[in-house]
This record gives sequence, C-alpha cells and structure tokens, in this order.
Amino acid sequence: MCGICGVTGLRHATPIVFEGLRRLEYRGYDSAGIATLVDGKISRRRAAGKLDNLGLLLEEKPLAGTTGIGHTRWATHGAPTTSNAHPHGTDRVAIVHNGIIENFETLRHELEAEGVVFETETDSETIARLIDLYLSQGHTPKESVLKSLKRLEGAYAIAVIFAEHDGLMIGACHSAPLAVGYGDDEMFLGSDSLALAPLTRRITYMQDGDCVVITPAGAQFMTFDGEPVEREEKIAALTSGAIGKDGYQHFMEKELHEHPLVIGQTLQRMIDPATRQVVLPELPCNLAEVPRAVMTACGSAFYAAMVGRFWLESVARLPVDIDIASELRYRDPPLTKGSLGLLISQSGETADTLAALRTLRQNSAHILSVLNVEHSTMARESDAVLGTAAGPEISVASTKAFTAQLTVLACLTIAVARSRGMLDAAGEEELVTALLDLPSRAADALAQADAIRSMARIIADASNVLYLGRGSMFPVAMEGALKLKEISYIHAEAYAAGEMKHGPISLIDNTVPIVASAPFTPLFDKTLSNLQEAKARGGRLLVFTDTKGAERVSAIAEQMVVLPHVHDFTAPVVQTIPVQMLAYEVAVLRGTDVDQPRNLAKSVTVE
Ligand code: F6R
Repeated sequence: MCGICGVTGLRHATPIVFEGLRRLEYRGYDSAGIATLVDGKISRRRAAGKLDNLGLLLEEKPLAGTTGIGHTRWATHGAPTTSNAHPHGTDRVAIVHNGIIENFETLRHELEAEGVVFETETDSETIARLIDLYLSQGHTPKESVLKSLKRLEGAYAIAVIFAEHDGLMIGACHSAPLAVGYGDDEMFLGSDSLALAPLTRRITYMQDGDCVVITPAGAQFMTFDGEPVEREEKIAALTSGAIGKDGYQHFMEKELHEHPLVIGQTLQRMIDPATRQVVLPELPCNLAEVPRAVMTACGSAFYAAMVGRFWLESVARLPVDIDIASELRYRDPPLTKGSLGLLISQSGETADTLAALRTLRQNSAHILSVLNVEHSTMARESDAVLGTAAGPEISVASTKAFTAQLTVLACLTIAVARSRGMLDAAGEEELVTALLDLPSRAADALAQADAIRSMARIIADASNVLYLGRGSMFPVAMEGALKLKEISYIHAEAYAAGEMKHGPISLIDNTVPIVASAPFTPLFDKTLSNLQEAKARGGRLLVFTDTKGAERVSAIAEQMVVLPHVHDFTAPVVQTIPVQMLAYEVAVLRGTDVDQPRNLAKSVTVE
C-alpha cells in the first residue's frame, strides 16, 4: 500500500527509481512521482494514474540528478490527482511516505497557525512541511527529520532528500516496512527487497522506530532519539528474474500456474521425505497443552484460516475461535490463558492483522504466524513463523499464496493432531500421502482450463452470482466470490449451501448463476440436495465436482468441471484452484485490469 524507492550514487537516479517503482506498483497505482536533486535544487515529476503516465511525462520532461526518491500511491487522504501525488515538498525538502499520519490535522492546524501554506489534501504533506519548518529554523537535515519524527503519530515509512545536500537521503519507519540496499558507491531505499532486487541483494530490513542517514558510501542507523544502532545486513533471496510474466498474459495467470510448484515447495519444507512425517520448526508452545487457538487474518487469508479451523477442529479436535482481524482488534474478546494466536498473511504487513497480532500478544497468547514474506513486520513480531514457499505474488488478487497457506495449515493440523493424540502413525501416513499427491492434482485442476472458460462465458454476462459450498467448501466458495468481485467487478455472494433456504433462495432466478463447489466428500449428498432446491426454482447450476461426484452432478448441472477425486482432507486445496481460474477467465472476458483491479492494492498497510 504505497511503494517507496530511493537511490543516491553516481548513476542517473530517475531510471533506477522508476524501475523500482515498477516493481512496487502492486502496492498502489493511483498516482506516481519522482523527485531528484538537479544542481542542488529539488525537481519533481508527478502524474495521476498508473506509472506509465509518469513514464510518458518523464520522456517529455526528463529528470536529471544522481540522488532521487519515488513513490507509487494508493490514495488514503486526498483524491488520486497529480497535485496529491508524492513526492511532496518545498524548495528545501522532498519526501515520499507510505502509511497514515493519524495526527495530521492537529499538525496541519499548528503549522498553518505559523503561516505555513499547504498545497495538497494529503496527510503526507504535513511531514514535508514539518521538516521544512525545522530546516528554516537552522536545524540540519538529520536534526529536522528526527525532530519531525517525534511529532508524528500513525504508521509511516518515509524517504527524504534535501536541497543543497546532493548525496544525502534519510529514511525512517514506524509500523511500515522499509529496506536499505547496498551497492558499489551507491545506496538504495525501498519498501521491500523486491523493489531493490535488480539493484542489489545486500539488504538491511529496518526495524520499527529506526531512522537511517544514507550517503553513497553507506548507511548510519539510529533511533528516533539519534542514538546509533547496529542493523544486520542480509542477503535477500529474491533475484531480479523472479518477477517476470514468463510469457503469460497476466501475473495472475502465471501465479495460477504456479500452484503445483508452490504447494510442492511448501510441502518440502514441512514433510521429512525419509520418515514421511510432518516436521515443524520450533514452536512457541507445546501443541499438546494449548487449550484453544485464535485464528485471524483478512480477505483471502481469512478464508484460508476458515479452512484451517475446519481441519484443526475436525482432525486435531482443537477448539478454535476465528475472527476477521479488523474486528478482532476492537472486540476485546476474553482469551483463554495460554491460547495459540494463529495469524495468516501473505505480505506480513497487513495493518489489521498486525494490530490483531499485537492485541493477542497483549492478552499473552503464543504468537504463530503463517507468512509468505520472510522479513516482514509480522515475522519480526511473532514467536514463530511457518513460511509459505509461494515466492513473490505480484497480482493484487491472491492465488498461489492461498493454496500455500492451506498447505501449511494442513501440515500444522497433522502436527497438532499427533501431539494431542488424535492421529496415530497410520492416520498421519494417510494424510501425508494425500498431501504429497497435491502437486499432481493441482496440475490436473489447471488442465481443466477449457471447461472453466466455458463456464466463464455464462458468468461474464451476469450482474450477480451466488457461490455455494458446505463444510470446508464454504470458505472455498467465499474465496471464489471474493476473487470474482475483485477482478471482474461482478457482484458475488458466498453462502453455506444449507443456509440458502433461510433467505437468499429468494434471489434465485435464471439471471443469477450459481457456482457450487461439490466434490464427493461426506457432505456431497447434503450439498446436492441444496442444489436441487435451487434448480427447482429456476437456478442455473455451474458445479465444480470430482470424478466420484460427476455422474450425479451431471444430472442437474447446466455445466460442470470434473476434478480428480482426492482425500476429503485435501479437497479444499484442489477445489480452490478452479474457482480462482474461473474469476480470472471472467475478468479476461470482461477486459478488466486483471493484475491491478480498480481501487485495490496489495499489502494493505492502513486500517
Ligand atoms: C484477495 C486478497 C486480499 C488479501 C488480504 C490480506 O485476493 O489478496 O483479500 O488476502 O488483503 O492480505 P495479506 O495476506 O497480505 O495479509
């Protein structure tokens, strides 16, 4: 949610910063801008809309200089116009900001009372105006930034450059990520290591409350009080090649095709091939003694949590409370002492999930997070992390990260069940065998693209779509509906199939397609009865089933997609893939911006 990139060195800064922004565009694409120092003076180019608009502007009006900062915006305060685009600044200073300054109105009034005139509606401009005020009072750039940081409330990562200080860039962060990259006689700042991947793999991930003063020769880290601190340099795993489209039309299409690989890689981390047993890293608590788990996440990750709850309760017999992170953080639930807080997030930066983590921590839960981004804020704040090996996910709509999350939660379930005496060796062997079969079955699901495309033609003309599923297929239906909404802009609702008759059945007519996930699990008959009820009222049934359910589904469905029959335990993983593919195919038919749907951004670092 907003991306930041900066460089100082000997090379032309603009192309370097622009390339960094290209790799950060998934974090927001409402506007973009770059500022550099040219002959000691701050020069800016900003454009509303996607980064390409900034690219066109830069062709028309190039921007020289070897020190520069850039920003790609997801609008919070102020419309997505050019004047609200970052960098913000004055003749003395330019800043880019990711996050929200919660006390910006107070600060703005205070500054306006001193005669400062604001040019934008953004909260971010307050940071620039504050720093400018301190500079005007004779403070050095470092002093001015440190004094300003003390005044800010909220979440922020910032990068700052100063007129007449070529080769100087200052960064700071609080509850928002920022990484420093090391080059040869040049240094970089970026919202994540992905932005810096083509430039360097030598990275320091800044910690909450860090400020850094950067010159081409290196970086000095300090607290907001100016006390020097040591921060470790790490080698980032990403390579510059890791984010190409590899010949696919969209990142989402590419990432859908990575399901088998990602599931396989995640299993490799968690299953010992010699013993065929789940082996987890050291956990914050004894799984046998945990009285209950509290699972929380946002969006797709929350649906992964719902499947996880289904497994943990039914297989491991562990009681689970579950809540959307933005609700949990304000609900103040009474927690059972010694509970396991289980948080799920692709980015590890989602503000609501991070806040829920802190709420759980305050209530002395053990914190275990399922994360895709290894060096994220949530990773640092967790007692232990179970990593998903999904690799960078660029499409704003999550796909492969979701199945990787399910894979981890399935392995965790086995480990919890074993430690609680709910699974003997034969039982574990059966579930592990089902898991190890998943990469091939995921590939089989991908092979159904033609049948899914044919379903997509019906959905593409609809204004409303219902998604149905029961048991572990209910969260799969929710994932399908969310994906359709976010990338095709068609309204979709997911219901537990058995709940239809309590209200939503009145919506059914032949203009509302019904997408059902109905593999041959113990709930197959029940689901089929619910689908019959819908068909009897004119509903058009589009059903995802499996080889064992196909014959009976074919008798009622207008269209069906037949997936391989797998163990009940792993069915939600296999059934997720076609509902995501369906949303993708519908979006392509409707010609929407699949990878960067309107109003959205990945890594939602605001409340
Ligand atoms: C949906 C989607 C979002 C994310 C949600 C949580 O396709 O991508 O709903 O799942 O914003 O993000 P993370 O997992 O990064 O916490």
